[in-house]
Amino acid sequence: MITPPRAVRDRILSLSPTELPAYVYDLAALRAHAASVRAALPDRVELYYAVQANGEPEVLAELGPYVDGYKVSSGIELAHVAEAAVDRPRVFGGTEKTPTELADALERGVTRFQVESEYELYMLAGLAQRHAPDRRVAVLPRFDLPVPDGLLTADGGGSATASGLDPARADTIVGLLTDGSYPNLELRGVHAHLANGVHAEEHLALAESVVAWTLELAARNGLRLTEVDIGGGMAVDYDRPERRFDWHAYGEGLARLVTAHPGLTLRIEPGRALTAYCGWYASEVLDVEHGSSEDFAVIRGGAVHLRTPVTGRHDQPWSVLEVEPWPYSWPRPVVRRERATLTGQLSTPKDVLVRDVRAQGLRAGDRVVFSLAGAYTSSAPHRAHTRYPEPGFHFLDADADGDRSR
Ligand SMILES: Cc1ncc(COP(=O)(O)O)c(C=O)c1O
Repeated sequence: MITPPRAVRDRILSLSPTELPAYVYDLAALRAHAASVRAALPDRVELYYAVQANGEPEVLAELGPYVDGYKVSSGIELAHVAEAAVDRPRVFGGTEKTPTELADALERGVTRFQVESEYELYMLAGLAQRHAPDRRVAVLPRFDLPVPDGLLTADGGGSATASGLDPARADTIVGLLTDGSYPNLELRGVHAHLANGVHAEEHLALAESVVAWTLELAARNGLRLTEVDIGGGMAVDYDRPERRFDWHAYGEGLARLVTAHPGLTLRIEPGRALTAYCGWYASEVLDVEHGSSEDFAVIRGGAVHLRTPVTGRHDQPWSVLEVEPWPYSWPRPVVRRERATLTGQLSTPKDVLVRDVRAQGLRAGDRVVFSLAGAYTSSAPHRAHTRYPEPGFHFLDADADGDRSR
């Protein structure tokens, strides 16, 4: 359980039931965390923020001083970054880039393109002639490299996916990019995002294997490749939230790696591990239902706003803020059994935020606060098809005058 800091707690308790659910962001905490991540990394490691984790303009702007740039995966993300973080370097990756998105990205001066398929390579080369005629466009092919045997204990890596080029085609791709076929594209290096939810030691081993593979590719083809982007996927442990990705050890390992390979720049692009901890999803218990074998505390909202427990198949860490008095004349529902399951309002068994936890005494009207809610939470399309209102958004900043809410 992670209890919210005082400012977050006070804000949640100050909201009326109709202002719930709400996301409350602790911007000072976000800054402190981003600063510590940056400080842990050596100079020759570039830190790009993967916008897909959380594209709120306030979050993008706060991260600005600590990141080297932003990694976008869609035209919409690109537009967000262009507004919130003007003129910052941007890398464009993502699996299904459309010609319109690529043309827009070229016009906006995106600094690097992660190319995910051979078709995308031809498309980018063609579009670059028209939309970026005066520059060579920097390209990093993304290869779907196999994860070395036994490396990962976490899930989320190791099998073939639609993301990335077949490594067996690497020499051909490199040939296309260096034999004069596409003079307006410049091969800078390799991109490989191999897994999600990976802790520092394993992530470091992945980085080493990607660097070794890239250097072999370069040697085989008589090239000098100067960049390796090892992606994101740094772990956020929802089951054991106190177990954080060890940025310090990771930074030390990366420092050894760049020292061993002068002339090589490494790039990482974490999303979740940068923003998850600064966001809180606050709601209230609406009712307690006593099933034949289980109690269910039904909260206002749920998976319509917070999709991480469903997509990640985990319990979202939570805590309770008790609310007194009960303002109604009718009896207050309460969890009678020792344990209960916390569900949202959707009439589907999938709308579960926390399964079978100690919750005796939890009552309707009590506030429940879900932590680690700063990344990959949005269910906007889902809400658009239901009757559920948007959550509120509150951006608290202990170091600044006032804060922003909407
Ligand atoms: C290519 C790439 N880069 C970065 C990320 C960000 O991952 P995470 O938010 O887990 O750090 C992802 C997410 O899957 C990705 O596919």
